[in-house]
Amino acid sequence: MEVIILKNATEVAERSARIVCDTVNKKPNTVLGLATGSTPVAMYKEMINANKEGKVSFKQMRTFNLDEYVGLDPSHHQSYRTFMNENLFNDIDIDIDNTQVPPGNLENPMEAGPYYEDLIAKAGGIDLQILGIGTNGHIGFNEPTSSLASRTRVKTLTETTVKDNSRFFKEGEFQPTLSITMGIKTILETKRVLLLATGKNKAKAIADAIEGPMAGRCPASALQMHEHTTFIIDEDAASQLEMKEYYKYVLGFQDNLIDKFGDSRGV
Ligand code: PGA
Repeated sequence: MEVIILKNATEVAERSARIVCDTVNKKPNTVLGLATGSTPVAMYKEMINANKEGKVSFKQMRTFNLDEYVGLDPSHHQSYRTFMNENLFNDIDIDIDNTQVPPGNLENPMEAGPYYEDLIAKAGGIDLQILGIGTNGHIGFNEPTSSLASRTRVKTLTETTVKDNSRFFKEGEFQPTLSITMGIKTILETKRVLLLATGKNKAKAIADAIEGPMAGRCPASALQMHEHTTFIIDEDAASQLEMKEYYKYVLGFQDNLIDKFGDSRGV
């Protein structure tokens, strides 16, 4: 795994947006996996700016979001579909028909998982997946003790996640407790992962994910089995990493090698 430790959230947004834009410039029909939450919003702003400045076009890009609440219509103001439209899709030149969010409003929510897995497979799989991380170590809505071999399915949110996300809801407003989320195996099958994290409240989850044992207790630790994962985090989120200095030291060598010989890992 690569661990890139940067000064602050702005640098995290700039660095991750640069990787996304470089990927799309190399492969215009990139299949990009997207995340909601506060963390990727600044990266989405960078992508919007790059698109407006003509540095990248997203016309052929296809996207798959990680998760959606069960019981909300896509047009609902709290749906993740609305979040994506407002924070990214409406402001870039993407074809909205090329964007997918798991269907949270099916009469039978159990059908959503196989349907979504099939869509991903038909698109040829995900080239680059953006992830945040929960304070409890979740990725997507794969809560602690999720099967490391799980696929897209209905998942019940933990009390921690409901509490963490309550900041987005007004007092008394209905807050869903069920979700449809890509599974951990679905995520492990993506070709490249960028996990973004900023702030001290993510420090323990980041330390467990990178340096802890691989365990369902910290779903993000499953990325230890992923072929090409890059953690892009700020100093605060890195503050509980025991090998922090080593990661910084490694990066200098690696950047030099990649500059000289290119990156043989594909995407
Ligand atoms: P956040 O959420 O970016 O809003 O902190 C991350 C997550 O829960 O995956």
